[in-house]
Amino acid sequence: MSDLAFTRTDATRKPQSERDAILADPGFGNHFTDHMVSIAWTKDGGWHDAEVVPYGPIPMDPASSVLHYGQEIFEGLKAYRHADGSIVAFRPEENARRLNESARRLALPELPVELFVRAVHELVEVDADWVPSGADQSLYLRPFMIADESFLGVRAAHRARFMIIASPAGAYFTGGVKPVSIWLSSELARAGHGGTGAAKCGGNYASSLLPTNIAAANGCAQVLFTDSATEDTIDELGGMNLFLVRADGTLITPALNGNILDGITRKSLIRLAGDRGHAVEERAVTVSEWRDGVADGSIVEAFACGTAAVITPIARLKGEAGTIVDFGEAAPGALTMSLREELTGIQFGVREDPHGWLDVI
Ligand code: PLP
Ligand code: COI
Repeated sequence: MSDLAFTRTDATRKPQSERDAILADPGFGNHFTDHMVSIAWTKDGGWHDAEVVPYGPIPMDPASSVLHYGQEIFEGLKAYRHADGSIVAFRPEENARRLNESARRLALPELPVELFVRAVHELVEVDADWVPSGADQSLYLRPFMIADESFLGVRAAHRARFMIIASPAGAYFTGGVKPVSIWLSSELARAGHGGTGAAKCGGNYASSLLPTNIAAANGCAQVLFTDSATEDTIDELGGMNLFLVRADGTLITPALNGNILDGITRKSLIRLAGDRGHAVEERAVTVSEWRDGVADGSIVEAFACGTAAVITPIARLKGEAGTIVDFGEAAPGALTMSLREELTGIQFGVREDPHGWLDVI
């Protein structure tokens, strides 16, 4: 337990008319609420100065280590408004645990899980008016930690800051739950063995941007990364985990091999599918297996999943040599859509929450 108390400095809030206009069509990651959380850390003093302050620029010395060596980690989770007006966060303690796993890999300090969850509550409470109530809308929370010691030596910083900002969110992909095309990145990798692939650190996303540009130029919404050693074993997408569905109802998803993120949506879907009696195989799976399975009819659906993407059906996989997989009219698949309905039903409070995943704010 941390007994650190939060101080609050109230912001000049955006006028209701402006907020309502934003909430009517928030998009993803374009607008921010009135406040943010900041907690400082020093090697000698630990975590201190927990604050809720007006959202705005943060002072940053040009020698701050995050700017030079990328010592940064982040998280993503959502708060949902239920029909009775109450607000819940989805499994925030899982994000807290994963933040600490990322912190260990990036030599950043760990934050007590309970302090992380309390910080989420502080921000959502003060900015509760920003939690939208429209279909598929939520308040996306972006906790992150940066090393902000000013020095140029290459070593783990002795000063860091944990922050949370919040952004009202609609769909990550425009066009509703339309099946997307994804691009198989050849040569350009996201992660390698022993690297930072399993950590949620900015560097992994920086390395995904060039292949994402190539994907976009080829009409694809996301990049599929494979193991850099085999170029066939599937890791994950730039910002999502991947599932394949067999005709017999078995789900296949790449095992946590040290190169991919331990997705909370992935974990939740494994549980929900298991509850329904589906077999779920967490193992190495290849692009060749996917291609051949679709060709012989044994693989019938594929979807991407993550906090931002929720569950997004995949229509086709393309690469340098052309179309590799095309589900055509079969996408979106029935199991994809029914798992999506079940998960979002729990999150939005229209279904029972059998595993106690909702944290009431
Ligand atoms: N993989 C990557 C690279 C991601 O950025 C994300 C998004 O957070 C995920 C997977 C899915 O993780 P989660 O379901 O916890 O959002
Ligand atoms: C999330 O789903 O929370 C992510 O971090 C993905 C991000 C690329 C938007």
